[in-house]
Amino acid sequence: MNPNPTSIDMATSRRWPEEGITRVPAWIYSDPGLFRRELDEFFAGDSWNFVGLDCEVPEKGDYKRAWIGDRQVIITRDADGVHVLENRCSHRGGAVVWQNKGHARMLTCPYHQWGFNMKGECRGVSLIKGVHGEGGMPPDFDMKQHGLRRLRVAVVGGSVWASFSDTVPDFETYCGPLAMKRLRRLMPGRPLKLLGHSRQLIPCNWKLYYENNRDPYHGTLLHTFFITFGLYRADSRHDTSPEQGGMHSVNVAAPGDRQGDGSFTKELKRFKDFKLNDMEAVKFADEYGDGEMTAMQLFPSAFIQQHANVLAVRLINPKGVRATEVDWTYFGYADDDADMQRIRLKQANLLGPSGFVSMDDSELLKQLQRQVDGYPDSKAVLEMGGRDVKPQVTMATEVGLRAFYDFYRQRLGL
Ligand code: FES
Ligand SMILES: [Fe+2]
Repeated sequence: MNPNPTSIDMATSRRWPEEGITRVPAWIYSDPGLFRRELDEFFAGDSWNFVGLDCEVPEKGDYKRAWIGDRQVIITRDADGVHVLENRCSHRGGAVVWQNKGHARMLTCPYHQWGFNMKGECRGVSLIKGVHGEGGMPPDFDMKQHGLRRLRVAVVGGSVWASFSDTVPDFETYCGPLAMKRLRRLMPGRPLKLLGHSRQLIPCNWKLYYENNRDPYHGTLLHTFFITFGLYRADSRHDTSPEQGGMHSVNVAAPGDRQGDGSFTKELKRFKDFKLNDMEAVKFADEYGDGEMTAMQLFPSAFIQQHANVLAVRLINPKGVRATEVDWTYFGYADDDADMQRIRLKQANLLGPSGFVSMDDSELLKQLQRQVDGYPDSKAVLEMGGRDVKPQVTMATEVGLRAFYDFYRQRLGL
């Protein structure tokens, strides 16, 4: 066998390691054929995808562009509410909307100026009758048959989700009870307020980033900020729960609820010399009254998180086999007071491209992609916390990754 195959059928010529879900083969991060299948069968297939907050399109005529895998969509609002349309002109396939955000009476494709309303219905075809009786569309041409594709939409507590699939279950069934409960904790219907976005392009396969979000184990080792300032520690209470057969994962940490006799703290002494001049950036105000922080992943691309008092949805957009855009949406509540809004914005410095915590991941995953590229026949070991997929009450586990690859292999027949 060619030791370094790059052909589109590479996935079919490779086998998953015999050990099963405790091993992940490195070739899955560089296989172009597999990447295409993931885009088509996951992102554009039976899934629900976060596309934005409804407060990002507050007025009739507002629109916002978003991505589901490599497909562009447009979130719009009209008198009937929020719609999600594919940003692909029904004439010759051009992108209708080119701006990330805007306001318009009609959406007009720049190529030949076909016009669409906010529901995606075609309402205008330029030169439809031709010029001086010549050309134009045939008399039986029916604009009603040529609208933009409309996706299924679910609006939950101010978050907007969309699906290309006609067969995927409704959003609540898709998420399952635990993920819905944790989502409603952050988005109970209290109006949300957009605080901002940041975006970064990381030169790694999307699954390396996806795994990282499900891996609480690295959080207390790689991320000096978390450990030093007590936001996330290995000896805190931690629930690590794969959901819906490994599709989703729900992690809950209670940083103030320490387990054990404190001896673990001594192991952390190598970090004790780090100091901050402004401790407010890492001070956790228990706004939900349960002392908990949440990091929840909804397949295939959304990572919803509450670290201290920063609230964010992290969207994982695959841009190529070795390129992943991470798009962060920071939010608060419309009724937050000025002090809480200031704290949320300050703590947003933990996350994002140069975040005190998140920049560790970006650099690490860039290096990791080089490693997996160089050793496609190697395999990762996932045995922390055992070899099964049952929920655990510790962060010292890789159960979230095992469960994801259990699902992944079944879905793709690998
Ligand atoms: S491609 Fe959009 S109007 Fe022609
Ligand atoms: Fe991380």
